[in-house]
Amino acid sequence: MANRSWLLLVGVGVVSAVAAAAAVALATNIFERKQEAKNPFFRVVELTDDTVDPAIWGKNFPLQYDMYLRTVDQVRTKYGGSEAVPHTPTQVDPRSVVAQSRLEEDPRLKRMWAGYAFSKDFREERGHAYMLSDQTFTERQQVTHQPGACIHCHASSYTLYKKLGNGDLFKGFDAVNHLGYFEARKMVDHPVSCIDCHDSQTMQLRVTKPAFMLGMKRMKAAQGVQDYDVNRDATRQEMRSYVCGQCHVEYYFKGPEKTLTFPWDKGLKIENILAYYDENPHKDWVHAETGAPVLKAQHPEFEMWNQGIHASSGVACADCHMPYTRVGAQKISDHHVRSPLLNINHACQTCHHFSEAELRSRAEALQERTFRLRNQAMDALMGLLDDVKKAKAAGKTDAELAGVFALQRRGQFMLDFIEAENSMGFHAPEEAARILAQSTNILRQAQVLVRDPTFKPEIPDQLPAAEGDAHPGPGVQGKTVGAPSGSGEPTGDGGAPVH
Ligand code: HEC
Ligand code: HEC
Ligand code: HEC
Ligand code: HEC
Ligand code: HEC
Repeated sequence: MANRSWLLLVGVGVVSAVAAAAAVALATNIFERKQEAKNPFFRVVELTDDTVDPAIWGKNFPLQYDMYLRTVDQVRTKYGGSEAVPHTPTQVDPRSVVAQSRLEEDPRLKRMWAGYAFSKDFREERGHAYMLSDQTFTERQQVTHQPGACIHCHASSYTLYKKLGNGDLFKGFDAVNHLGYFEARKMVDHPVSCIDCHDSQTMQLRVTKPAFMLGMKRMKAAQGVQDYDVNRDATRQEMRSYVCGQCHVEYYFKGPEKTLTFPWDKGLKIENILAYYDENPHKDWVHAETGAPVLKAQHPEFEMWNQGIHASSGVACADCHMPYTRVGAQKISDHHVRSPLLNINHACQTCHHFSEAELRSRAEALQERTFRLRNQAMDALMGLLDDVKKAKAAGKTDAELAGVFALQRRGQFMLDFIEAENSMGFHAPEEAARILAQSTNILRQAQVLVRDPTFKPEIPDQLPAAEGDAHPGPGVQGKTVGAPSGSGEPTGDGGAPVH
């Protein structure tokens, strides 16, 4: 960003020089002021490509650092935020406050994940400050052995990868993936830090997490773009989402090396992802009630955002979750990353000229609809589990139920995809409704098939891979709609005002 606006302004300066010396002076003056407004900081300390500790960066950027520290706040919204629940510290789990248990809120989740660690402990996610300790102390660590690959999205891992790879980020990534979790855990100290999203010298946004770089490269290759390098080829507005896509995505651990992999070779739509898992056979676990080989979906915020109207209008994650905020005379990006519904004034009203109450009720209406459809799909899954249990008790074999298992795998993944996506449908309401309608349909057909083996299930409205790729948002196609003008100046509006 800095580079481009700098070049532009230098260009302006050069043309002016030919015209009049006074104009050069003016352009330079404007340039300096813009730099000042954008990045007014005193270099108190020298930062390097190895400075991990955010407190050190905070000496140069105290405003961003103060906001970053506020991610400890816990406030609940209707469908998001989180609630601070007291926890009695124990030897294995010293946390004194946790977030509410989602398993207690909806016990059907335990049956959906029967036989998997998620059925033991799954909580509402909370602020970035907690990511490393919540991962370390979740009960899921006690019921199963997790790999070092988990660290990628819960710690500042960039310098560790460089160190273990002797300067080669990807070699270091490979080395950490297959370590045991606690072995890798000893080598990191901080949750996501400044260095994971920023270049220490220019403060430009950058991606530092190899799984995202590789996932994007494979997806672009499938679209005919060879050798895509996210840090070289993405626009600034794209980077304002890509830094979040480093972690807020569906993933799995591939092969015995436990390579953290984003299943995007065929695109970001759920049909593309399911087709990927068909071609690269993978199961996360075997369902304890039915015996079906099933998949767990994880936080596909990036994938779902990409299907929504905001992405196709060029609105980035940072526009809503890190909106520009005035602090004194300065406009800075709000590093208190949280639910935008706790900050509607900055997060939405820069673009939407409605009252706060109106915007909240529109967002909640979309969430309410998603929640109802999710509950219908969840009930369909419970009905299927009941029927399979009965059929097995009556002597049906796994071989006889193979067709049912395939439908359970597909329908359950579709439900879990929306369940695991943390906006309760807001990021892409139409897409969430479409997926949940399909999920319910597939799970109910599976139930019919249990009862009547001659029934011929039909999976409706299946998108061929090509169609799934036909409407990628600006985040995928390499073109940016509604990005801030080339000035690089914080404007706070990724698109034109809308009503
Ligand atoms: C147009 C604004 C907008 C954009 C763009 C956007 N989000 Fe959101 N996001 C929301 C809203 C609104 C919610 C619902 C918050 C709630 O229910 O409290 C939400 C929820 C979330 C949550 C759960 C927050 C919570 O408090 O539970 C996460 C995580 C998230 N978004 C990540 C992302 C990521 C990553 C991107 C980009 C890939 C993104 N969002 C893009 C508006 C946006
Ligand atoms: C691709 C990035 C990524 C990887 C890899 C990853 N996580 Fe997470 N994790 C996230 C994100 C994003 C959230 C917040 C959103 C959510 O909870 O859905 C999260 C939330 C969590 C939470 C808090 C909510 C909950 O589930 O109770 C725990 C605990 C957790 N992860 C543990 C783990 C463990 C253990 C592993 C390794 C098996 C792991 N994570 C691997 C990105 C990742
Ligand atoms: C290094 C991985 C990583 C990156 C990068 C990352 N997140 Fe997160 N995010 C997480 C994890 C993990 C959690 C859950 C932490 C927990 O529950 O302990 C989380 C939680 C959140 C929440 C929930 C906050 C709350 O109070 O409930 C929001 C919103 C969010 N992230 C948005 C974003 C946005 C927007 C970006 C990009 C600007 C981003 N994240 C970048 C891993 C990441
Ligand atoms: C999850 C990614 C992420 C992390 C972690 C992060 N930032 Fe940022 N930061 C951003 C984004 C996005 C912007 C907006 C940049 C843009 O629009 O070009 C930004 C902008 C900035 C800017 C430019 C001025 C402004 O506020 O817009 C500074 C300075 C900055 N961040 C400092 C920090 C510091 C210091 C830390 C650590 C305490 C930090 N950032 C951590 C994503 C991050
Ligand atoms: C950077 C500008 C921008 C920001 C910030 C933004 N929006 Fe939007 N929003 C848009 C645009 C553009 C559209 C598409 C409008 C259209 O074409 O009709 C849109 C559409 C919507 C819609 C209609 C969705 C649909 O499916 O038809 C809702 C509801 C909405 N926004 C709510 C919000 C909320 C709530 C926030 C804050 C969390 C928010 N927006 C933040 C630009 C923005």
